[in-house]
Amino acid sequence: MQVVDNLVALRTRIKNWRADNEVIAFVPTMGNLHQGHLSLVKKAAELADRVVVSIFVNPLQFNDKQDLDNYPRTLNDDIKQLSELRCDLVFTPDDSIMYPRGMSNQTSVHVPGMDDKLCGLGRPGHFDGVATVVTKLLNMVQTDIAVFGEKDYQQLLLIRQLVQDLNLPMDIIGAPTCREQDGLAMSSRNQRLTESEREKAPLLYQQLQAVKTALLENRQGLDAALADAQSQLSEAGFETEYLEVRRADNLQPLQSGETTTARILVAARLGSVRLIDNILCDLA
Ligand code: PAJ
Repeated sequence: MQVVDNLVALRTRIKNWRADNEVIAFVPTMGNLHQGHLSLVKKAAELADRVVVSIFVNPLQFNDKQDLDNYPRTLNDDIKQLSELRCDLVFTPDDSIMYPRGMSNQTSVHVPGMDDKLCGLGRPGHFDGVATVVTKLLNMVQTDIAVFGEKDYQQLLLIRQLVQDLNLPMDIIGAPTCREQDGLAMSSRNQRLTESEREKAPLLYQQLQAVKTALLENRQGLDAALADAQSQLSEAGFETEYLEVRRADNLQPLQSGETTTARILVAARLGSVRLIDNILCDLA
């Protein structure tokens, strides 16, 4: 496994693989790797001859400076974990490689229809930052396949849309959410929970499941089920940003009686930590 921090070294390696007709799969990350990230790397290894992982904490997608400053950076440990998997290349650019003209002079990629819903509402500018960095990374790596987690479901749909709209020649693969034994979705942010918050945190997933059960049993009872889940979360100390049922293919609100695949999505703050999660609910 090779670790490179510059574009010339990255491009040289990729060019050689391409010349040998090897299929390349890419997993972009912000580091502080956990089993969720590693599951994407394993998936990439199943699908391709060569696996590239990037580690870059992207300042452009943080709308909260404190959140950026607090983001855990554990490069040595990340590299060690990747070296134990089938990973060929780790790309670790810094801000000057990603944004040589500075962030305010960077051409921006905007995917329409994202800022007005779910995480887009609570995090202004976030999705432009994600779309811009992912477009740059996909162009840098020139991959055949890129793997993203369903954990960040809106992000996955945004990337699918930008790849279609900009005709980027690659496949986007979604991978299921990895969870702790108690159901909490793995996240770099979990380690910032206090002990008592960590005990409460699985309630988020439990309430998603409660809404799913209610939805499958009786569509008419959905509003009551959502209200009940919200009040249980708030009683436990969560501050819910959104808890919604949406169409899985485009995140539009579900019309009454619509038989489609739905996604139940939640974002909530527990203390100073913002957690997100979502699950599938098949109404077809
Ligand atoms: P990061 O939060 O590091 O996540 C990197 C990838 O890991 C994303 O595709 C995310 O959905 C996936 N992931 C995170 N937790 C997961 C879990 N519990 N199970 C499965 N997959 C999980 O998402 C980003 O970084 C950034 O926005 C990025 C796409 C790298 C652009 O900067």
